[in-house]
Amino acid sequence: MHLWAVSITIMGYKDQIDLSRLPQHVAIIMDGNGRWAKGKGKLRVFGHHNGVLSVRDVVEGAGELGVKYLTLYTFSAENWNRPSFEVTAIMELLVSTINKEIKKLMQNNVKLNAIGDLALLPKRCHNELQGAIDQTAGNTGLVLTLALSYSSRRELMQAAKNIAEQVKEGTLNPEDITEDVFAQNLYTHNLPDPELMIRTSGEYRISNYLLWQIAYAELYFTTKLWPDFRREDLYEAILDYQKRERRFGKTSEQVN
Ligand code: IPE
Ligand code: IPE
Ligand code: MG
Repeated sequence: MHLWAVSITIMGYKDQIDLSRLPQHVAIIMDGNGRWAKGKGKLRVFGHHNGVLSVRDVVEGAGELGVKYLTLYTFSAENWNRPSFEVTAIMELLVSTINKEIKKLMQNNVKLNAIGDLALLPKRCHNELQGAIDQTAGNTGLVLTLALSYSSRRELMQAAKNIAEQVKEGTLNPEDITEDVFAQNLYTHNLPDPELMIRTSGEYRISNYLLWQIAYAELYFTTKLWPDFRREDLYEAILDYQKRERRFGKTSEQVN
């Protein structure tokens, strides 16, 4: 009897990704921490703690793959309305996580950035964050942006105010207000627009996140809860993104 050696190569999602067509910028709405914890009979805060493990893995996975910008919805302006116990726990988690991860960020050449109304963060949190941003400022790898106390509508409103001020001062003519000028007045002025936006937890909404910036992003929704999301899931989303035809208003024939 002949024995045939059958070699089965199991290709992971990562191996199937075309590295020449990576999204430059991936934005994620990390949702479902509370439900994840509740499902395990634990307090919501337990979910936030476990969500940090997903952040760590996804940041490493994104950097390893060669994604240039990763923007994580970490705390929305609306999240201030949660019970104060939860808000305090999240802010403390933020401080301790930055503290714990800073070494890893330096090792991995990650540049930390933040967008949102950061002045509303507790002082200790703001200082810790700013310290880490300063410390990683010279890093040239993945740009990791945390959206904190973030509201896209407020960002847009603030941009409109800034522009109005410039017009009032006479440094800007209304006819010179272009899309680029507008974008330069957003928190994200130093980031390209995300090509891929991921939301976990089976919710199909944007929740006031990057409304201007995702005008042409590919949207990817998964029912996985954030603490269950790992780099393999990110790779799966990127693979899905690469299967799409991005037409930007043109016909299929034009883009091919
Ligand atoms: C996302 O998980 C984390 C934050 C919004 C801070 P949630 O806390 O929203 O978890 P669910 O959506 O209630 O399950
Ligand atoms: C969006 O999640 C904000 C973050 C992930 C930080 P939420 O859980 O706050 O959003 P909604 O309330 O489901 O829209
Ligand atoms: Mg939620």
